Amino acid sequence: MTFFPEVLERYAEAHTKPESDVLRELNRETHARVLMPQMLSGHLQGQFIRMMSLMLRPKYALEIGTFTGYSAICLCEGLQENGKLFTIDVNEELQEMALRYFEKSGMSHKIDFRIGMAAAIIPTLHVALDLVFIDADKLNYGLYYDLVFDKVRPGGIILADNVLWSGKVVEESQDAETIALKAFSDKVQRDERVDNVLLTLRDGLMVIRKK
Ligand SMILES: C[S@@+](CC[C@H](N)C(=O)[O-])C[C@H]1O[C@@H](n2cnc3c(N)ncnc32)[C@H](O)[C@@H]1O
Repeated sequence: MTFFPEVLERYAEAHTKPESDVLRELNRETHARVLMPQMLSGHLQGQFIRMMSLMLRPKYALEIGTFTGYSAICLCEGLQENGKLFTIDVNEELQEMALRYFEKSGMSHKIDFRIGMAAAIIPTLHVALDLVFIDADKLNYGLYYDLVFDKVRPGGIILADNVLWSGKVVEESQDAETIALKAFSDKVQRDERVDNVLLTLRDGLMVIRKK
């Protein structure tokens, strides 16, 4: 899932820190065993998320959309010693696999994995968030942005995946998810409380910094 020529994508991967053994194994098992494996962030985006975490050194981070745990492990890498990642997914069938890889990563003690609807769980988190990764159902991106906004500390970062939606955001006929993603990006673009950049990384990653 990229708009970049394959050969340049491979070149970029060859000049990006390789996936750890755990992430490579998780990537492989997800592709072998799980439906829609392309939902996993993958090498380049994973390392970008990891880099953001290493730069921010979050005490508290939140991920909306765990899937098999790939990006959660990337988000954890820069957490402070006593830091915590909250990660939420509605699909309990993925729980065993994600938990198994959290154990393998050696960071499971830093991960609070909640199963349920993100919109119900986010309001129960009473912490100041340094880093948020929105990567769940596209129809609710705007809602998730509103729900997390007051919890994000000034200077904190919100990342939102898939904002180019395989290029559909600039096509004429549009489904509900495309319309929701466009509305989300427009909302961020208008929001004077933030700085933002839409990176053409993978399927489009919106990087938002709260002023
Ligand atoms: C694109 S995948 C996440 C990929 C993961 N962040 C990664 O990079 O490896 C989206 C996930 O969001 C979850 N999801 C969808 N709707 C949700 C909701 N309302 N609340 C919580 N999770 C949801 C799905 O079950 C799916 O696992």
